Amino acid sequence: MTPYQVIKKFKKEFDQEPFVFRSPGRINLIGEHTDYNEGFVLPAAIDKEIIFAIHPSDNNSCKLIAIDLNDTIKTDISDIKYSKKLWPNYLLGVIDQLQKNGAAIGGFNLVFGGNIPIGAGLSSSAAIEGGLTYALDQLFDLNLTKIDLVKIAHKAENEFVGLRCGIMDQYINIFGEKNKVLKIDCRSLEYEYVPINLDNYKIVLLDTQVKHKLQSSEYNIRREQCEEGIKILSRVNPKIKSLRDVGLDFINSHKDRLPELLFKRCSYVVNENQRLLEGCKDLRTNNISAFGEKMFQSHYGLRDEYEVSCKELDILVSVAEDHPGVIGARMMGGGFGGCTINLVKNEDYLDFIDLATKTYKDKTRTDIKAYFCSIKNGTSTLNLEDNETSNRFMY
Ligand code: GLA
Repeated sequence: MTPYQVIKKFKKEFDQEPFVFRSPGRINLIGEHTDYNEGFVLPAAIDKEIIFAIHPSDNNSCKLIAIDLNDTIKTDISDIKYSKKLWPNYLLGVIDQLQKNGAAIGGFNLVFGGNIPIGAGLSSSAAIEGGLTYALDQLFDLNLTKIDLVKIAHKAENEFVGLRCGIMDQYINIFGEKNKVLKIDCRSLEYEYVPINLDNYKIVLLDTQVKHKLQSSEYNIRREQCEEGIKILSRVNPKIKSLRDVGLDFINSHKDRLPELLFKRCSYVVNENQRLLEGCKDLRTNNISAFGEKMFQSHYGLRDEYEVSCKELDILVSVAEDHPGVIGARMMGGGFGGCTINLVKNEDYLDFIDLATKTYKDKTRTDIKAYFCSIKNGTSTLNLEDNETSNRFMY
């Protein structure tokens, strides 16, 4: 859905002019499964967005319309209950968390919809949570700080929706900045923008169209395995509270203390943090090919040590490995399906997508989807007067 369609629906339904916000999906360049290990991540907000058309109602009632799903629910902010349907919970969780934080909000009417592919690992759920938190802060003059918005959106997912995800997705949704990647320290919650010069490259996402049921159960198992590893390593050094406290030399010299599986899991996380820190230096010196090589290494770690990849993702990364125009590729997000992220030379991207499409179809009998994306600001008020925005939605 385009902003025009979302706004039109709102006006038709509620007969008034809405406030309009945009809330982006995200990519992650490197640093996977490190956020809940108090490590580093390097995401960016993108030009796939959810649009919110919203206005306070006259009382405590809310009518929430998911235009893409053609579905509506009504609720009252004094009686927020978990919904049997999944989508309302991302919104209800935000209302619940704001109220638990003492925010004085009233009822509101909302139409939302957009173009973030669902289930592709681009964090459409964090976009809903971050977008609504931001919109309600503006609508009801809550004066929350950006980091407050992140924490509320994150808690909505953890405590209301019930998924124990890390903080990366909600963080980048609020803090994203055009043409920059965000290095987040998931321990201190400090951040730093890292410039990325992609003039000669395209960011191509290849969507396997696979969403394995394993995803959330295996995600929790990985978290537990890391916690188990820390317990053992902290017996060697009680100062170790998370894998963030563990260096490469330390983990390698205490390999024998960990069961083989836990060593693989922990060693992946320690190496991934290291790759990310070095990768940021590559970006600062504009050495994109050195950065791209680290993306491949990250994929091998996710595939062989952390074991969260799947056959379909591996097929797409091996096409990328063999194509001279691709300088870096890896699976992205939680794993077991979703997208690969590829940095591809401008002159080669069509050829690469062609080859990937054919190879994938041959090997899996399935069509992939390819998306391009560029790096945009985090959640903000939508300004349709702005040329760039209106051009993007001109269809
Ligand atoms: C999902 C979670 C994030 C992060 C990634 C893996 O996207 O929501 O918090 O853990 O998986 O890096």
